[in-house]
Amino acid sequence: MKKNFIWGTATSAHQIEGAWLEDGKGMNIWDAFSHTPGKIANEDHSEVACDHYHLYETDIAHMKDLGVNGYRFSIAWSRVIPDGKGKVNPQGIDFYNRLIDSLLAAGITPFITLYHWDLPLTLQMEHDGWLSEVTADAFARYAQICFEAFGDRVTNWITFNENWCTAVIGNGQGHFAPGRISDDEPYIVAHNLLLAHGKAVQNFRQGDFPGQIGIANNCDWREPYTDSPEDKAAAQEALEFFFGWFTDPVIFGDYPAIMRERLGDRLPHFTPEQSEMLKGSSDFLGLNHYTTHYASREPIAPDQMKADVGNGGDQDDQQVYLHHDPDWPRTSMGWFVVPWGFRKLLNWIKEHYGDIPIFVTENGCSVAADNKEDAVNDQFRADFVEGYTQALTQAVEEDGVNVKGYFCWTLMDNFEWTRGYNMRFGLIYCDFETQERTPKASFHHYAEIIQRHRSGGTED
Ligand code: NOJ
Repeated sequence: MKKNFIWGTATSAHQIEGAWLEDGKGMNIWDAFSHTPGKIANEDHSEVACDHYHLYETDIAHMKDLGVNGYRFSIAWSRVIPDGKGKVNPQGIDFYNRLIDSLLAAGITPFITLYHWDLPLTLQMEHDGWLSEVTADAFARYAQICFEAFGDRVTNWITFNENWCTAVIGNGQGHFAPGRISDDEPYIVAHNLLLAHGKAVQNFRQGDFPGQIGIANNCDWREPYTDSPEDKAAAQEALEFFFGWFTDPVIFGDYPAIMRERLGDRLPHFTPEQSEMLKGSSDFLGLNHYTTHYASREPIAPDQMKADVGNGGDQDDQQVYLHHDPDWPRTSMGWFVVPWGFRKLLNWIKEHYGDIPIFVTENGCSVAADNKEDAVNDQFRADFVEGYTQALTQAVEEDGVNVKGYFCWTLMDNFEWTRGYNMRFGLIYCDFETQERTPKASFHHYAEIIQRHRSGGTED
């Protein structure tokens, strides 16, 4: 790997910051959702989370020990603009200034995500959130405010994190905030998210801010179940409904043809101007990747249902069935560990979208543990990171995929959305009572991987 490759770690504001109503922060849709009984495991919420708002210096010291040269974090929109569209909260700006300055002082390059699911609640209440283009305009203004406030020091920007989850899980299945259930709204929400991305990128480029801007989309790998043309087509379709839905528009200016074919006018249309705005609107592609499935055109058992999660798009709009190999190891989230799927996905992205730089903006796993001792002895995660970084190295060095960075999800155990604090994804153990942080075995292993690559690294 190149010496300037970014070996990083990632978090998001709502999952770690806490200080949910401190220093002028407004409420967001996850604050409301997680205070709704029955929505989150154990009725957990993130009023305090990892208290990163107060402990960020400690967390940066850990990152320094880990040896990362990049850190991906998100800005809480409602900390910067409490109602999402009105007055700016200077204390919110101050917090991110302190965070950015401390990262730079530690030699760690900040990668900022502008939106990691925590929509200001007012925009949901007054404008139906991402169902309205008003929210897209409010986002573009918020992005502009961030570019102006931080763009003198921050040169790596990600507009959106996993829009697929916002559209499908938040506005289709109702499992995530804002908790809406619909077959059609995911496509409208996705459309407005994409327009918001385009408008923000336009602001970035017209404002001549230095650096690069992109989007972080999630995708699992879909391996054809057999070599038949039908199964190959099913796997391809699954990838297009998953990654293509949010990536084709920002590269080519429109949705994948297969989506139009299946959805007709249920899929909104971009005007020629919007399409032009979106085309080429990502300097790089961010990829969040966690697992793999086999895909087939027909069910392999008579009563098999289409998988109800994880298949991208609305299930009924695709003719795809998912399967797994019973020998694949599983994380405590139930996700399969298949490093070769990661390598294949990176190659698919290259074949599909050309040589555009890729940042792996998330990859990691949850490991169940009943106590701290078990949690820090996380050989499972150390093996996971070893396997996936090896697959990454093969994709880069043997297959020539243009990957520029890898961010391990996540720095420390945190608020795992509807799964609350039980799903521990961290390289660092977090005791949520005392806020004590303890690096796990995987932390030390990832530090070694980074050192190994750096010492053997080639010049730029
Ligand atoms: C994707 C999301 O971006 C992140 O917030 C989440 O914690 C991880 N995946 C693990 O589920």
